Amino acid sequence: MATRSVKIKNVKRSSRNPPFSKQASSKTKQFLSDKVSHFTESVIREMTRQAMMYGAVNLAQGFPDFPAPEEIKKAAQQAVAADINQYAITWGAKNLRNAIARQMEVWQGITIDPEKEVTVCCGSTEAMISTLLAVCNAGDEVVTFEPFYENYGPDSVLSGAKPKFVKLRPPKDESGEWTFDERELRRAFDRHTKAIILNTPNNPTGKVFTRAELALIRDLCLEFNVLAITDEIYEHILYDGTEHISIVSLDGMRDRTVTINGMSKTYSVTGWRVGWAVAPEKITNAIRKVHDFLNVGAPAPLQEAGAAALSLPSGYYAKLAEGYRGRRDHLMPALASAGFRCFRPRGAYYVMTDISAFGYSDDVSFAKYLVREIGVACVPGSSFYRDPRDGAKQVRFAFCKKPETLDEAARRLSQLTGRKQT
Ligand SMILES: Cc1ncc(COP(=O)(O)O)c(C=O)c1O
Repeated sequence: MATRSVKIKNVKRSSRNPPFSKQASSKTKQFLSDKVSHFTESVIREMTRQAMMYGAVNLAQGFPDFPAPEEIKKAAQQAVAADINQYAITWGAKNLRNAIARQMEVWQGITIDPEKEVTVCCGSTEAMISTLLAVCNAGDEVVTFEPFYENYGPDSVLSGAKPKFVKLRPPKDESGEWTFDERELRRAFDRHTKAIILNTPNNPTGKVFTRAELALIRDLCLEFNVLAITDEIYEHILYDGTEHISIVSLDGMRDRTVTINGMSKTYSVTGWRVGWAVAPEKITNAIRKVHDFLNVGAPAPLQEAGAAALSLPSGYYAKLAEGYRGRRDHLMPALASAGFRCFRPRGAYYVMTDISAFGYSDDVSFAKYLVREIGVACVPGSSFYRDPRDGAKQVRFAFCKKPETLDEAARRLSQLTGRKQT
């Protein structure tokens, strides 16, 4: 593939300009809020635009390129035809809230009150920011593991809180797990800590937090009187016999956990923008107020379709996970033979890789090369870290794609072999 001279905008950052701290030019800065002037555009969404520009296979952004289940699409069509086209109840259609409560009972053994403890939002993205806006005051701190899903840092800043990061360390070999240092985690907690954001199964690492790890986090939450905000949107995408455990199910966490989930990943409908937050009544009241002023409500007909989706038989979830296991096992050997060191994911649908073998000075130059010349888009690892140097030897690939898309990616990646810089 020919080299083209178009520059990747907004992707390259120096170590002094982490993902959400790029300064606006002095001319326009006077018009911007201090908070926003510190943000850059999402690197993940930018890589999708780059993929389109170069005709590359898009393994950057985590959206499926295969159809959503027929029965869910039909339910959405029927809801529109039945004229469920006006504002839904602000905190969510009753049918969907009931279905969410049923699912919490079935999968986690947690009984919740759908009238008082559920807020349906415009995606789990909005559920997260509404939650943080509802609970944080200026000066609060929010602990997050890094590498992290790129919204968490800006979300904390928008809510007035200061993000604090604790490292997840990659495994030494392909079969190992990402781990964290208990002492480092403890050091991140103090009297300013309002919340910890968890994400299990984890994007970008594929880590699935164990019961022992969650118990340790629970103990710190209780000791320091901290809230757990847990993003579990990949809860059904699990491999190698791993089990998803919601921290809310651990003793002592019922009244200090906000569980966030959504339809995007489980039902392959990332464009529908339906997600939710499950929280104790008082916290739910606060989240509902923020959500009301931000959005009024999530899309009404798609919430009805959501109720149908959440009522699918359990076989649906087993098939979903098995389908993604096949895709993971399709892409990983292609990456490995092209020279990437892969960190085997135990859940979610991404592979984090180490690119040291290619000899590039940083992940962004490598990602530019890959999208322009090899025709495969990935996400530079630095976008998942506060200090871009920490991700300078990593890139992430999404495998939520059709077999033919993965075949084409594998074919293009095979051109990398022998082009490694030493
Ligand atoms: C960890 C995580 N949380 C949230 C989201 C966004 O979810 P939603 O589409 O429900 O807003 C993503 C999307 O990639 C994600 O990876």
